[in-house]
Parts: sequence; structure tokens; C-alpha cells
Amino acid sequence: MSNHPAIARAVAFCESLNFRIPILMAPMASACPASLAIAVANAGGLGGCGAVLMQPDAIRAWASDVRAGSNGGFQLNLWIPDPTPKRDMATEDAVRRFLRNWGPEVAREAGDTKLPDFAAQCESMLEAGPAVISSIMGLYPDHFVKQMKASGIKWFATATTVSEAKTAEDAGADVIIAQGMEAGGHRGAFDATKAEACLVGLFSLLPAVADAVKVPVVAAGGIGDGRGVAAALLLGASAVQIGTAFLRCPEAKVPSAWADAIGRTLPEETMITRWFSGRPGRSIVTAYVRASSDPSAPAPAPYPVQRGLTQAMRDTAIKANDIERIQAWAGQSARMSKSEPAGDVVRRLWDEAQALLR
Ligand SMILES: Cc1cc2nc3c(=O)[nH]c(=O)nc-3n(C[C@H](O)[C@H](O)[C@H](O)COP(=O)(O)O)c2cc1C
Repeated sequence: MSNHPAIARAVAFCESLNFRIPILMAPMASACPASLAIAVANAGGLGGCGAVLMQPDAIRAWASDVRAGSNGGFQLNLWIPDPTPKRDMATEDAVRRFLRNWGPEVAREAGDTKLPDFAAQCESMLEAGPAVISSIMGLYPDHFVKQMKASGIKWFATATTVSEAKTAEDAGADVIIAQGMEAGGHRGAFDATKAEACLVGLFSLLPAVADAVKVPVVAAGGIGDGRGVAAALLLGASAVQIGTAFLRCPEAKVPSAWADAIGRTLPEETMITRWFSGRPGRSIVTAYVRASSDPSAPAPAPYPVQRGLTQAMRDTAIKANDIERIQAWAGQSARMSKSEPAGDVVRRLWDEAQALLR
């Protein structure tokens, strides 16, 4: 074991939370089956569950499956709800017309998306009793923060700017997850309207956040090999959170067209789009993403209306294994991802990072 101070900091962080390797599987809504979390936890990392679309029963079932197959090290995660969006039927009709080129006819009612009840989801996370509960796109309400603390659960708050990180620390976050703009999937910006205007790369964000807060920092965004892990630890992180690099693992069970495309996507071949859900997220530049970002395309509807409107297209795309229409989230380091068991990814990245930090 290296005695480099950055490695020592990471190891101490892991020990304080009862896991061994400072690699967290990102909680990835709709792409975080228990099988992936089990493989990551059994290799010494921390599993993760993006539960935003899951009903309370499904959250409890996920946690008990992971407990049954591993030492039970995992984080549960929710998006903090946005205010109810203002509906605009003219915008929605234009989106529905655009979507005719990409999937089945979309009914007007498809925009009436109902998300699971946030308070009930919070309650089920507390019942599941994970080591960590994380947030993205805002902060948990005070009363829930108090309940987490009373249950001995650590709150990891995602931040995309220094000011969000400081606000989260002031609100009681035990750890900040600094999400650089390289990250695959949705942006964690507290205010979605400002997300595209406040894109900060991890190389700038991470040391600035580490300097600004007293709590430990976890780095996320574009970390795809041991060099990324080592750099993040050097820049002040106590651990890393990785999403895209786990999506090619067999345990992730994502459609093969998406997993294969991740393996060939260059950094400049991803972009941030609102066209899948209405909230900005980083995807591979597919035919659908390219067409919807053309100036001739209509404006997307807000979250979660757009998610409802695109549901049929996304479902059809998955059935057809059609990368051009799949919601193909990926970070800028996608191409580093290897098709290998998740446990091997965890061990390889950690070995590589330690070899670099001797
Ligand atoms: C498919 C996918 C789904 C994601 N879903 C969530 C989510 O539900 N909650 C969350 O906090 N982060 C989510 N993220 C973002 C990750 O937490 C993390 O910031 C990101 O994966 C890091 O960048 P990387 O993909 O380059 O490793 C998601 C990322 C991906 C790729």
C-alpha cells in the first residue's frame, strides 16, 4: 500500500464508512440494477441506486437484494423535486409532432407524467438504512436531514459549483460530490434554468470545492481509468464516483447498442441535451440528439413533461436496440470504459491509481 498522503486520505475516508476502495458506483436512475451494486460492493467499493423513478417498494426490494448478495455497502439517491412545471400545450404539440419522426404517435396525455411521491421515497430510504443517502439537483428538506443524522446515515450532496457546495455544507451535508461538466447523465445543478450557463470542468471545480468546504469531497465526471482516480485524489478528493465506466460491465445489463457505443465515443462526441427528459443531461451525440439540437427543432418541454412525451420513443428504441434513439447517457471519457466485470473495473482503477501515487 502506498503511503502517499492522497492515498492515505482516501483510505481513511473509506474506513470511516466501512468500505475498502474509494470508488463509488454512481447512482444511475434506470441503469443501476442490484447486480451491478453487488459486484462493486463485493470488490470493496460502494454500490449505488438512483431511485428517482422507483416506488417505495422497489427501493426496499433493491436494498434487500444488494444486502443479500454483498456486505451491504451502498448509497441510495434521489433527485430533489423541481417546482411543478408550467405546461404549454403549443410547445408540447410541437414536441409531439417532432417525435413522429422517431417513434410511435404520442398522445397529448403522455405529458401528464406522475413521479413517485418524494416524501414516501424518503421514508423508504430511511427504512432501508443505507450507509449513505445522496442528493442531486438541490438539498433535502431540514426535517429529512435531521432524520438521516438521527439514523446515523451520511448525507452526500451533489454540487456542480462552489456556491452549491457551500450551500450544501451549510445545510448539513457530510460529504460533497463535486460533479464536473464531463459527467454522463443529468446535470446536478440546483437551478435547472442555469445548468448550461454554469458548466465547470472537474479540473477547476474539484480543487476549488476542496478549498471552500471543510467536509470531504468525492469527485465525479469523466473518471474512466486509474489516471483519473489518481488525479482526483491529488486535486483534493477523498474518493471518486463513477458512472459511465460501469455501463459496459455485464452486471449493468444496459442494451448492447448503448454499451458498444460507449466504447467508441470520443470526448467531443457527447453533448448536453434536454431532449430526453426536459432536464439537461450528457448523452452520446446520436441521430436523435443531433436532430433535436438543430436550430429548426422546436423547444423541448420542461421536466418531467418531456420525459413523459419521449417515453414511447425511448421504450421502442430499447426494444429495437437502436442507438440512434436510445437515451444514451455517457460522460466525456466514455471511450475509456471496458467491457469487463465490474469488480475488475474497481480493482483495476484502484491498482492503477496506487501505482501512480507512490
Ligand atoms: C446513466 C446515468 C444515470 C445517472 N443517474 C443519476 C441519478 O439518478 N442520480 C445522480 O445523482 N446522478 C446520476 N448520474 C450522474 C452520476 O451520479 C455521476 O455524476 C456521473 O456518472 C459521473 O460521470 P461519468 O459518467 O463520466 O463517470 C447518472 C449518470 C449516468 C451515466
